[in-house]
Amino acid sequence: MNEKRVPVITIDGPSGSGKGTICQLLAAKLGFHYLDSGALYRLLALAAKRHGVSLDNMESLAVLAAHMDISFKTRDNGNTPKVMLEGEDVSALIRSEGVGTNASVVAAYPEVRDALLQRQRAFAVSPGLVADGRDMGTVVFPDAIAKVFLTASSEERAQRRYKQLIDKGESVSLAALVERVQKRDERDMTRKVSPMVPATNAVMLDSSTLTIEEVLQKVVDVVAASGIQPPQ
Ligand code: DC
Repeated sequence: MNEKRVPVITIDGPSGSGKGTICQLLAAKLGFHYLDSGALYRLLALAAKRHGVSLDNMESLAVLAAHMDISFKTRDNGNTPKVMLEGEDVSALIRSEGVGTNASVVAAYPEVRDALLQRQRAFAVSPGLVADGRDMGTVVFPDAIAKVFLTASSEERAQRRYKQLIDKGESVSLAALVERVQKRDERDMTRKVSPMVPATNAVMLDSSTLTIEEVLQKVVDVVAASGIQPPQ
């Protein structure tokens, strides 16, 4: 398995914890590849809709998960990579609330998770990988050299989402967002397959009162303790 030879750093945690931003900054700092595993579940939800596969049809979803034509294209300006489905840039489409909800439905099927396991592990190529998700340190890369579980209070995560939505021009209630965040945590942490739990050897980090730079420094320190230093 690739991950044994190639250094893998896993950052798991709920959405709104800042892990996407931190993973991308860390990957850029180290010159490592970046895996946004949530995007795979989102791509599957979108591909299912486009191919008329019902969200109840676990077997067909697993076949689609194993064979869907997807890729990530690094952008020259260092921004979030372009997410491609069958040659089309679907980066913005997969971020809709509808796709997010359907992604959480398909993510609960064990056959789907199995089908995506090898595809996720294939991202562990030289010089190394920063993997972002919910079960990176527990299931996908259990032998990772450094594991972080990044979280933040539900109020803080709802506040961050609120700001994003307001910036996009959507009107939302903060109280409703706090409730949604808490419900989603409950569902993610109690689902039977690959629940979102910290790996036993993960370093816990709470980003509630920290800036992005402060979180990144703490993660860099964790990674350095495993023997990996950013190039000077
Ligand atoms: O991180 P995100 O919001 O893009 O994730 C989309 C969905 O996929 C979300 O419902 C959680 C799920 N997911 C998962 O079950 N396992 C992962 N490793 C990553 C995401």
